Amino acid sequence: MTYRIALLPGDGVGPEVVAEARRAVDALGLSLEWTDLPWGSAHWHEHGRMMPEDGLETLSAHDAVLMGATGDPSVPDHVSLWGLVLEIRQRLDLWANVRPARLLEGIPCPLAGRAAAEVDMLFVRENTEGEYSGIGGRAHGGLPTEVAVETSVFTRHGVERVLRYAFELATGRRGVVTSATKSNASRFGYVLWDEVAGEVADDFADVRYERVLVDALAARMVRDPGSLDVVVASNLFGDILTDLAAAIQGGMGMAASANLAPDSGRVGVFEPVHGSAPDIAGRGIANPAGAIWSASLMLSHLGETEASRALMTALEETCREGPRTRDVGGEATTREVGEAVAARLTEQRR
Ligand code: NAI
Ligand code: MG
Repeated sequence: MTYRIALLPGDGVGPEVVAEARRAVDALGLSLEWTDLPWGSAHWHEHGRMMPEDGLETLSAHDAVLMGATGDPSVPDHVSLWGLVLEIRQRLDLWANVRPARLLEGIPCPLAGRAAAEVDMLFVRENTEGEYSGIGGRAHGGLPTEVAVETSVFTRHGVERVLRYAFELATGRRGVVTSATKSNASRFGYVLWDEVAGEVADDFADVRYERVLVDALAARMVRDPGSLDVVVASNLFGDILTDLAAAIQGGMGMAASANLAPDSGRVGVFEPVHGSAPDIAGRGIANPAGAIWSASLMLSHLGETEASRALMTALEETCREGPRTRDVGGEATTREVGEAVAARLTEQRR
């Protein structure tokens, strides 16, 4: 069987890190075909759209999608984000955004005195509704009376499926689910979330469920990350908390993610958590670890458990022994890191 993988490098450092993820996957020697999709900001300038009209069908015709990042200073961020990433997540109903936040050995942690083993969290972010429902509007543009309304949407169906998935993941880990809401100040959506979480928790006797206010959770992630196992949160809260989590695991360049519709057979989209990083794009210094890690998540989702583990091990060894990029204390280029990971895999196959 040959896997068909859509490669969507995107903008800025996207193509730089995705090239290294591809190099590493290729070194595994699996039977795999890549389709390069040149979508993103350049496509928008040329065609007025971030991706072609039949883009979602194209993605769906593949076994998986490996993405870089999109966003360019020449295109408003809400246009680039809604034209591609959010469009893909919502229209393909990829409702679970799974983000492992594990500190790898050799990677400096900004929290003093933390050993790698103390940081091993798994974030499950609701990915299709909540605060990013896209519902709202503006009126009286430019006038002192101008008004903007942005509506959060929480459905029982949407909340329950992501909570249930988080509990399922916890059963294969340390068995703790921390659910982040803000149901003191916001009285409707997050209160529904808490109620559903309580109901789902009743179905998982072996999992310890705790409900934490999101602001308190942010503080706890810094003070005591080792107390957290699976964290489940709404779209906005998951977005913010996972940037904090990325920082704790060594920086934006380290963090990986999977956009999934578990048990649906729909295509999964795998991407580093970071954006297009225009401040360092084109210099060949972006950290490819998050992209390579995302490729490992992709292989695991495809059922290539051994290949996924081999890729992750090669990444872990490279982080421990170097080379590393400068954001994690090294001096290497993006390519040198990618080549080092690939070389370990090629070596293993000999
Ligand atoms: P960003 O993640 O691109 O950058 C934040 C900081 O992290 C920057 O200092 C950057 O240099 C650093 N960084 C990011 N990736 C790195 C890597 N691989 N190695 C080393 N350092 C890295 O977020 P920012 O600056 O808020 O957004 C830039 C653009 O990316 C915007 O247009 C934004 O809309 C877009 N974006 C796209 C995302 C996506 O495609 N999924 C996600 C987040 C932002
Ligand atoms: Mg984000």
